[in-house]
Amino acid sequence: MTEQKAILHLPGQEAIELPIIKGTAGNDVIDISSLGKAGYFTYDPGFLVTASCESAITYIDGDKGILLHRGYPIAQLAEKSDYLEVCYLLLNGRLPDKNEFDKFHSIVLHHTMIHEQLAKLYQGFRRDSHPMAIMVGVVGALSAFYHDSLDITNVKHREVAAYRLISKMPTLAAMSYKYSNGQPFVYPDNSLSYAGNFLKMMFAVPCEEYKVNPVLERAMDKIFILHADHEQNASTSTVRLAGSSGANPFACIAAGIASLWGPAHGGANEACLVMLEEIASVDRIPEFIARAKDKDDPFRLMGFGHRVYKNHDPRATVMRKTCHEVLNDLQINDPLLDVAMELERIALEDPYFIEKKLYPNVDFYSGIVLQAMGIPRSMFTVIFAIARTVGWVSHWKEMLDQPGQRIGRPRQLYTGAVDLQFDHVDDRCN
Ligand code: CMC
Repeated sequence: MTEQKAILHLPGQEAIELPIIKGTAGNDVIDISSLGKAGYFTYDPGFLVTASCESAITYIDGDKGILLHRGYPIAQLAEKSDYLEVCYLLLNGRLPDKNEFDKFHSIVLHHTMIHEQLAKLYQGFRRDSHPMAIMVGVVGALSAFYHDSLDITNVKHREVAAYRLISKMPTLAAMSYKYSNGQPFVYPDNSLSYAGNFLKMMFAVPCEEYKVNPVLERAMDKIFILHADHEQNASTSTVRLAGSSGANPFACIAAGIASLWGPAHGGANEACLVMLEEIASVDRIPEFIARAKDKDDPFRLMGFGHRVYKNHDPRATVMRKTCHEVLNDLQINDPLLDVAMELERIALEDPYFIEKKLYPNVDFYSGIVLQAMGIPRSMFTVIFAIARTVGWVSHWKEMLDQPGQRIGRPRQLYTGAVDLQFDHVDDRCN
């Protein structure tokens, strides 16, 4: 098949042919890497139409509301698989057979404990620190424990770093919660599932027996699956960029956690719950809808809209169902759920939201589920970080595995001053 080309006409130059590269699905891309020779850069703040890399991990069709991990639809994975199997899939590119899965399971469980010295690091934080602030610090600090034994050019070393990260994240996350409320740290229990173990480390205390509620365990596992990966989002791109310089993977994941923290990204579920509480009753919804539409008001409907999904977010559909399951099981009648459902109904019929293709995203219902499970609000984004670690690590590994991998180094459109002459401070009069 002849390769297709885009023809670019630049002022005063001969036409340039730019190769069009086809993927297996989604938009084709125009390879503009030869443009530099013509003296031009491309300009796309926020990467609205720029593919920053080639990847075979996750595919999203935002217009159709499709999310595939290694080819499998997210709804099937959430319904039929479990988080560790999804981790294997994302990391290795295919589902494991029984032996492979058992081995993977036991390796991940083997690494759940953390170095006792790292536990002491927590004492350096204020008790009222946001757990995401602690996570940025302690995950970054893992690099101080595993830097010397890590050769990132060695495939086996990269693999062990990936296992360590996936295994230790729930332990570190639960410790950041325990530290904030003054309870003793709970050691991991490797006889439990990944989700069950996390719940135990969060909620068990030494003076009482703790039994994992299977409905909550399954719900937590689904939340982990739904947040496991989402292709080149802000935090994943941050991890890739940090890792492109050959940096330590634990430090790269700490950079991803920092990026995830923002309210436009992983902080949205916390922000969404705050918003629902502020709305508080169904009759105040029109007031908030009007604010969201007002150009002069910075208020946005949290949990609504997405850079890529312009139809529906398939994760939100699963999350909505999980929300009802958890609330039913716990026999909780949460008025915030009524506010959320009515807000969703009204917004989806409103011309502003229809025209701008703003639909509920995964975070719209996840805050209500997590709150019902007894998870404090400040831990919502931390849970997202636990789940997304496998996505970050899979992208980091994929990038380093690619032949000809180079440091990421975007260009810019410079709009600052030029040709200024330096005067000594005594001679300056501004
Ligand atoms: N409420 C009201 N208006 C909105 C909203 C919203 N939630 N989201 C976007 N808009 C409007 C926005 O004002 C803009 O209008 P105009 O074209 O008139 O200027 C238009 O829709 C496009 O918005 P944008 O900010 O240019 O879109 P974006 O792709 O840069 O931003 C987003 C995507 C998710 C940051 C944004 O929709 C948002 O801030 N949503 C609320 C925060 C949220 O729920 N974030 C979680 C995302 S899902 C979890 C994850 O993957 O991290």
